[in-house]
Amino acid sequence: MIHLFYDVTDLWLKFSQTQLSFPLMQLLAHMSSLGWDAITEMDEHNRPIHTFQVCNVMEPNQNNWLRSNWISRQAAQKIYVELRFTLRDCNSIPWVSGTCKETFNLFYHETDEAHSVKFKPQQYTKIDTIAADESFTQMDLGDRILKLNTEVREVGPMTRKGFYLAFQDIGACIALVSVRIYYKKCPFTLRNLASFPDTVPRVDSSSLVEVRGACIDHAEERDTPKLFCGADGDWLVPLGRCVCSIAYEEIDGSCTACHPGFYKAYAGNIRCSKCPPHSFSYGEGAAICHCETGFFRAESDPPTMACPPSPPRNLMFNLNDTCLMLEWSHPSDTGGRRDLTYNVQCKRCGPEPDQCQFCEEELRFLPRPLGLTDATVTIMDFSAHANYTFEIESLNGVSDISSFPRQVAIITVSTDQGGECFDFYLMFRGTCIILLIFHSLPQEHEQLSYSSTRTKAPSVIISGLKPATWYVFCVRTRSPAGYSSYTPKYEYKTTGDCKYLRPSTALVTGLGYICLCGNVLLIVPSSLVKILKTHSQCLCFFPSVPTGPFPGIKTYVDPDTYEDPTQAIHEFTKEIDPSRIRIERVIGAGEFGEVCSGRLRTPGKKEIAVAIKTLKGGYVERQRRDFLREASIMGQFDHPNIIRLEGVVTKSRPVMIVVEYVENGSLDSFLRQHDGHFTVIQLVGMLRGIASGMKYLSDMGYVHRDLAARNILVNSNLVCKVSDFGLSRVLEDDPEAAYTTTGGKIPIRWTAPEAISYRKFSSASDAWSYGIVMWEVMSYGERPYWEMSNQDVILSIEEGYRLPAPMGCPVALHQLMLHCWQKERSHRPKFTDVVTFLDKLIRNPSSLLPLVEDIQRYSIKDLPESPGEEMDYPMFISIGDWLDSIKMTQYKSNFMAAGYNTLDSVARMNIDYAVDPFDSTQKQQRVRHDITLLQRRYWLNAGKVEHGS
Ligand code: ADE
Repeated sequence: MIHLFYDVTDLWLKFSQTQLSFPLMQLLAHMSSLGWDAITEMDEHNRPIHTFQVCNVMEPNQNNWLRSNWISRQAAQKIYVELRFTLRDCNSIPWVSGTCKETFNLFYHETDEAHSVKFKPQQYTKIDTIAADESFTQMDLGDRILKLNTEVREVGPMTRKGFYLAFQDIGACIALVSVRIYYKKCPFTLRNLASFPDTVPRVDSSSLVEVRGACIDHAEERDTPKLFCGADGDWLVPLGRCVCSIAYEEIDGSCTACHPGFYKAYAGNIRCSKCPPHSFSYGEGAAICHCETGFFRAESDPPTMACPPSPPRNLMFNLNDTCLMLEWSHPSDTGGRRDLTYNVQCKRCGPEPDQCQFCEEELRFLPRPLGLTDATVTIMDFSAHANYTFEIESLNGVSDISSFPRQVAIITVSTDQGGECFDFYLMFRGTCIILLIFHSLPQEHEQLSYSSTRTKAPSVIISGLKPATWYVFCVRTRSPAGYSSYTPKYEYKTTGDCKYLRPSTALVTGLGYICLCGNVLLIVPSSLVKILKTHSQCLCFFPSVPTGPFPGIKTYVDPDTYEDPTQAIHEFTKEIDPSRIRIERVIGAGEFGEVCSGRLRTPGKKEIAVAIKTLKGGYVERQRRDFLREASIMGQFDHPNIIRLEGVVTKSRPVMIVVEYVENGSLDSFLRQHDGHFTVIQLVGMLRGIASGMKYLSDMGYVHRDLAARNILVNSNLVCKVSDFGLSRVLEDDPEAAYTTTGGKIPIRWTAPEAISYRKFSSASDAWSYGIVMWEVMSYGERPYWEMSNQDVILSIEEGYRLPAPMGCPVALHQLMLHCWQKERSHRPKFTDVVTFLDKLIRNPSSLLPLVEDIQRYSIKDLPESPGEEMDYPMFISIGDWLDSIKMTQYKSNFMAAGYNTLDSVARMNIDYAVDPFDSTQKQQRVRHDITLLQRRYWLNAGKVEHGS
């Protein structure tokens, strides 16, 4: 948002309107007799244009000054000066070749107060020399064509209370038509029930101002509400929020009192609720509903409860030889309480109804006669030939204080003979039934499926699992007391290897290990695990040709599937005789030792430059294995965008990994060193290379997990090569990797949310990281999310924030980034789509012309209320031109019909944060809906082939 404190479309008019002490013209009249003149001209429509003009092109050594009045800086740290002027082409004036100039100079001078003394040019600092893009000739004058130039200059940081502007003419023919001076600020806003004050951005455009919001009336803080004010006056990254207090609910962004008959007992993002049965609230803003007369709430009861339960209904009984199992239904009205219990009272009666005595003592109740929480009880040890009456009473926390009648159901049974309840007894002694539930989460796009199995033995074998499929399962037991709760979930992906998981013994008594072998899942007692460990094929079984995701394409083999890691090294790497290597320089340090550059000789071939990673002395075997693991991975790849392994030295010391030398080193530092040096096409070429390398890796079934510009190398032809392989070890080595709450070490800023939360790494999570790499490349090595903390990054992603386009970033590339950052991983592009898309951009460079900043100057708020409504936008490029340029002409009418008349709206079309997720106004909903539609068209047209329906 731009705040104008000096909007001068007409110098004379507006300067006097601002009530500054003197009109500009009068001040200047004292300064130079050969100076600028205030002249009013008529435009082609015969409207007056007030200008300041100077045109002493015939005389040498001109030095004419025009100075503004003193202008208060207000809160600005950086000011913008927009000049509109016309300038005469010197070539069009005869006899002025030595004297006529085509530029003028802009100066400023900061002071705390207005000068009463004379204007002293030497006090002024030059801002810039201003030249015209368009100059006019005598002919234009005749045709009364105004060739207006607009130039904007930034000045700052400003520190004094105010400043003067001055214009120095050195012999040009200029008419100054307007001067607009402004600064940018993030305007007061309400977001997530918090208000954020007007905030002036930092002068340094790469850093954001963190602003804490204040909760609005009747709201309170949940997570500290924060927004970040960006250099262009945009609010970015909403974090945290306030929630409406007790008795208030959120309606249209404010907190409104609950209506009579409703209440809200807790602060939070919930609506007021209707009073529970038998309770009421009369006034507005009730935190609690009071019980009607005759109804009660216990002191410890939460305010959401009321009313005692009704009597139990539908009593059933089932008498086998010697056991009586009573079952009854829960009361139809529990009064909104959850503390329902049942007491069973027994009476043994003689032939006459009044000959009854209590009999709980003589019978056995399982689990007990009083305080039952389930609507069932088993009763044993009956006497033969007797009549029993059972009263089942339902109670809750207010039964004692309520005047409600007792809620009782009665049943009478007669027995023929007494005895033991053997079945039940046996069960109770421990032959528990284990119910095993598992469900599979097969690969993406497939339906979730569930199945369950039961076993009486404390073990189970489940066969027929699909390879390379995620299975999630949990276990619960059933005993006479009912079902236990489920154990935590165990997740397992079938691959062919074998793992052991120990379930929570507290919940699954008698259950030993869960052993996962290839595509068979075993639940076995601990004793059996030992046998399996020593004898089972399962433990030794490492398939030599694992099944991969794409038949016919070479598949990556995880070196960890080799029982003997040296076997993997032999299989995938070449041993190099160290005499062929010449180490020249140390170029870096890795986790395991130095990285050097040098030369490698191969008989019959040209000597080549190589990088040599060394393993420093004193290593333990595990370090040697981890070090060489990277070589076993790299050795399986052969692609121009993947760093090439030349070989390893393992038979002598030091142990070395030798790879091709990549001249420009890592991409992030290379870009930082060459900020702004490349054309967009060059940058897209680099991105295309990385995508191609990643496509190769994902086709082979390899997931990188640490794709970032620091792990890409760039050669002298700007060819990018993905490097740093080794899965978990890579992350150990990566200074960006931080520990997560689940204990993993993850480079948060580069990693997809599902990988951070539950370590779900996949090619789709690599696609997310690829989007971040795109952002790093387009911003020339800027740190993703700037100085935000990892925690704030996680929160903001969760809330839907995505990195904005870097300066100079084409819309098409930011769209691709946003596509890579879809929360739903199956919606992210596959690397093959990315390569296809980038190829199209490269073949059609005009598609890279619309830049995000060109089209984002007008916010979504400026969208018309309804399609077709008038809008007054200066169009940088029309929607039509843009669609033509990206070969989407056929969508013009759709865009227009949907009300997207500016590129601004298109730029935001597939991003969640384009519209405020908490704003449910019709306009926002329409925008959200249309954005989704347009996104699909955009991607379909741009070569995106696969899309979730
Ligand atoms: N730094 C790490 N590996 C490198 C390589 N292969 N080439 C150049 N610099 C490197």
